[in-house]
Amino acid sequence: MKKQTISSKPWSGRFTQGTNKLVEEFNASISFDKRLYKHDIMGSIAHAKMLTKVGIIKKREAERIISGLKAIEKEIEAGKFRFTSDMEDIHMAIEKRLIEKTGPVGGKLHTARSRNDQVALDVRLYLRDEVKETQGLIRGLQQSLVDVAKKNLGCIMPGYTHLQRAQPILFSHHLLAYYEMLKRDYERFEDCFKRVNVMPLGAGALAGSPYPLDRDFVAKELGFSKPTDNSLDSVSDRDFCIEFCGAASIIMMHLSRLSEELILWSSQEFGFVELSDAFSTGSSIMPQKKNPDVPELVRGKTGRVYGNLLSLLTTMKALPLAYNKDMQEDKEALFDTIDTVKDCLKVFPPMLQMMQINKQRMLDATKKGFLTATDVADYLVKKGVPFRESHHIVGRIVAYCIKNKKVLEDLPLREWKGFSKVFDDRIKKVISVESSVNSRKLKGGTALESVKKRLKEIEREIK
Ligand code: ARG
Repeated sequence: MKKQTISSKPWSGRFTQGTNKLVEEFNASISFDKRLYKHDIMGSIAHAKMLTKVGIIKKREAERIISGLKAIEKEIEAGKFRFTSDMEDIHMAIEKRLIEKTGPVGGKLHTARSRNDQVALDVRLYLRDEVKETQGLIRGLQQSLVDVAKKNLGCIMPGYTHLQRAQPILFSHHLLAYYEMLKRDYERFEDCFKRVNVMPLGAGALAGSPYPLDRDFVAKELGFSKPTDNSLDSVSDRDFCIEFCGAASIIMMHLSRLSEELILWSSQEFGFVELSDAFSTGSSIMPQKKNPDVPELVRGKTGRVYGNLLSLLTTMKALPLAYNKDMQEDKEALFDTIDTVKDCLKVFPPMLQMMQINKQRMLDATKKGFLTATDVADYLVKKGVPFRESHHIVGRIVAYCIKNKKVLEDLPLREWKGFSKVFDDRIKKVISVESSVNSRKLKGGTALESVKKRLKEIEREIK
């Protein structure tokens, strides 16, 4: 067997052999946790300040540590920092460089701290920013939905149940249904933020710290709502990552449903919308094809976001307290979720804004499936016919039309009266899709009046 090379580590005091090279690679998280560098440095600066405040290190020492950390941040940002597996993770990489730069004083930074509470702090600091960014992107998409809804206010389309034409609705009302879903998503991230925003440092490896640390100071310094309440929980809690992935899975489910509709609507069978060329792709073999790859990819990426949630839940499910190395596996799932959700939220607004709406095609589709049959039944009810009976009468009218290749608009009053003598000439208006839509003017209904009212409220909600 090939001889493995070995190398030494900051924790190698109790070891008589270096780490196996394969283990070094296997154990390292630096390739992916390097994205935490900014937050790791931010957390370390707060820790150093606190250490001087309580008299554990001297002010001068803290100053050297802090300026060293700031210089390292610049090095990383300038691309001058080479990340290698022997550094293990971002925490050790930065600490090692600090000691190189400042000498032994750099070695004082890790006093009263463990990587277990450090990593919990870093991920929380990082995720706080990402939650805010995700929320900003949600707002952007909500705004686009509102813009398209406003621009196409009079446009009537078939509403569906079971993917069968059901009742006419406003296209804007349909779009605003997604606004409401995103509103709940926004709130879910808001709620998730509250549980991300607590400060774990001071938990040490697991049992807390024997030093007189000022945890409130660190919490305040870093803008957390409070320090965590149990040291074991502080280093073993990844609920906040799972919650983020849960909220991300739900929003992806929403984006996937909208994607599915765009894919259907842009098919030749529907022809309700046409995605702009800038948001479509062609086929390498069929010259006529214009494919909705973007919504298809969003629908597809939903699977990997669900997968990340499941992966995190499974990683955590049987871990005894407190920290276990299994938990290093949280990062790739979380990071991939963040990247995927943000990418999807970024691509949607311009795609919606540039999409062409085929109003006539949508309207035509409302004219063929007896979409106002319920309105006819309601009309009979207003005339005193019990609903069950009126439902039956209208059913017979529809069957008659189908048999004779007619639509409701083709029937003269004489034929209506053949089914029930209570019909009068107002039935012509009742069966128009416009009056069907505009009769649903309760709060939350599809009438132009109701949709306009909701748009007004929404303007206040998202400003
Ligand atoms: N890279 C580690 C992680 O991401 C940091 C914590 C390591 N702690 C330890 N006791 N080895 O989980």
